[in-house]
Amino acid sequence: MSKDPKGREEPGFMRHAFVCGHERPDGAARPSCLPKDSMRMMRELKQSVRDLGLKGVRVQKSGCLDYCEFGPTCVIYPEGTWYSLEADGAFDAVLKHLETGEVQVKFTLDLSD
Ligand code: FES
Repeated sequence: MSKDPKGREEPGFMRHAFVCGHERPDGAARPSCLPKDSMRMMRELKQSVRDLGLKGVRVQKSGCLDYCEFGPTCVIYPEGTWYSLEADGAFDAVLKHLETGEVQVKFTLDLSD
């Protein structure tokens, strides 16, 4: 079986996190995540994943994830779990999810209000 340059034999990741990096112009009808420092958080998540030596975990920028009012928005697959990175502790919760696969319910997006 052939391998890619990183030694992988098949495509895909064990866990895949997307952090919204979208920006809207001033006066737009909806807010956006970039002005809420989402790309700094994404870079720190990527570095933390590297520092922990997590294999099979990918963190990357996305376009608008359409939950703009709750941003900075992050979604992790394959669980399909949505987080807002706005709350204190949310960054660590997302990192824990990436490390363990356990959904950190306290920090998931809650649209029930
Ligand atoms: S701008 Fe980030 S979810 Fe829409």
